[in-house]
Amino acid sequence: MGKERSSFSSKIGFVLAAAGSAVGLGNIWRFPYLAAKYGGGIFLLVYIILAVTFGFSLMIAEIAIGRKTGLSAVGAYGALSKKCGFMGWLTSLVPMIILPYYCVIGGWVIKYFAAFISGQVQAAAGNDYFNGFISQTGQPLFWFCLYVAATAFVVLLGVEKGIEKVSKILMPVLIVLSIIVCIYSMTMPGALEGVKYYLLPDFSKFSITTVLAALGQLFYSMSLAMGIMITYGSYMKKDANLESSVGQIELFDTGIAFIAGMMIIPAVFAFSGGDESALGAGPGLMFVTLPKVFASMPMGGFIGTVFFLLVLFAALTSSISLMETVVSIFQDKFHWNRKATCLVVMIGMLVIGVPSSLGFGVWDFIQPLGMSILDFFDFISNSVLMPIVAFLTCIFVGYIIKTKVIVDEVKLSSKFRREKLFVVMIKYVAPICIVAILVSSVLNAFGIIKI
Ligand code: PHE
Repeated sequence: MGKERSSFSSKIGFVLAAAGSAVGLGNIWRFPYLAAKYGGGIFLLVYIILAVTFGFSLMIAEIAIGRKTGLSAVGAYGALSKKCGFMGWLTSLVPMIILPYYCVIGGWVIKYFAAFISGQVQAAAGNDYFNGFISQTGQPLFWFCLYVAATAFVVLLGVEKGIEKVSKILMPVLIVLSIIVCIYSMTMPGALEGVKYYLLPDFSKFSITTVLAALGQLFYSMSLAMGIMITYGSYMKKDANLESSVGQIELFDTGIAFIAGMMIIPAVFAFSGGDESALGAGPGLMFVTLPKVFASMPMGGFIGTVFFLLVLFAALTSSISLMETVVSIFQDKFHWNRKATCLVVMIGMLVIGVPSSLGFGVWDFIQPLGMSILDFFDFISNSVLMPIVAFLTCIFVGYIIKTKVIVDEVKLSSKFRREKLFVVMIKYVAPICIVAILVSSVLNAFGIIKI
């Protein structure tokens, strides 16, 4: 503590910065493939319910913890309760796992941008283009390294301010462009079936895995359960309205994910001629489907180029916030200087990221729990660690420091209209649901039960 902590000058500055971290590949790449895989409308419904109840409560708690203590996650838990310092460490593990593989996907985005800008639109729309690309060794590694370098460059030089300014302009452009693409997708022949699949919940497709996938996605997309919102909260002014900020971040984040799904899922139906197995494509869905949409669109080469550039920016703002978090954890702990810390973290990202990239090619025989290496890291962070952190956060807030501490902090600047919802969620509903979901998912992953 000691030195004066810088803070966001305005509420809108805070909302945009937090949204910049929240909106990223999670919304545009991850949400659509999960929605496609887990039953469309039912996934969307579960996700939205979780966002306004659970996501809302957890985000309030995290931001309030940060604002109250003025510290990032590693210190904040310990500052509020001596026994709970370990939670800061557990929380810090999550961004360390996500960051490397996030950069692998970031590399794919640069690759597609490069393909579009150099006019290879038809090639990129080919059926085997994506798999042909990720199963190579050198190519994906090259783009991955480029993406890591770009992220590290910004974090090292501290030009986030510039990036933030640029993304304030580019984000709205991304939304407008996505809506255009989305309208085009929806009007393709055969796409209507996809619109129905995405919007109308089919309750027979509901299962506990749907809830788990939606919950993991919620944490990921809103940058929850990994300490990021604690750090952002520590920069927030006491008089900025916490409750309405959280509402706005949520709306922004969920809105973009919704549009991304609308852009991709109907197109999957249009191009597969209604063959539903295409929906299970997984991490490649966006990369396989969108180029086809662009290739069939008037001015598709241009639109695709701009689109991938915008996605790249959205991704960079997220990976920068992830790397910044990891760097600050190491700096706080070891007191290294910034340059050395960035270098160490960058090397770590490269070393840990390489297997995720090779896992689709020469290392595809390595299948932990039957998943590709990238999916495995994604599973460990989103379906195991984040629920654990979220559970502990609920216990911490509900029973150790007590909800009143958080409620008082929120009330410094807002009426806290959803106070009751918050208390009931944090103390009862959320912890019980998380344990149930977590246990069943782990048993499922190990093949002990089939859900
Ligand atoms: N929320 C980001 C996304 O949706 C990912 C992210 C997670 C970024 C955690 C920062 C921290 O892409």
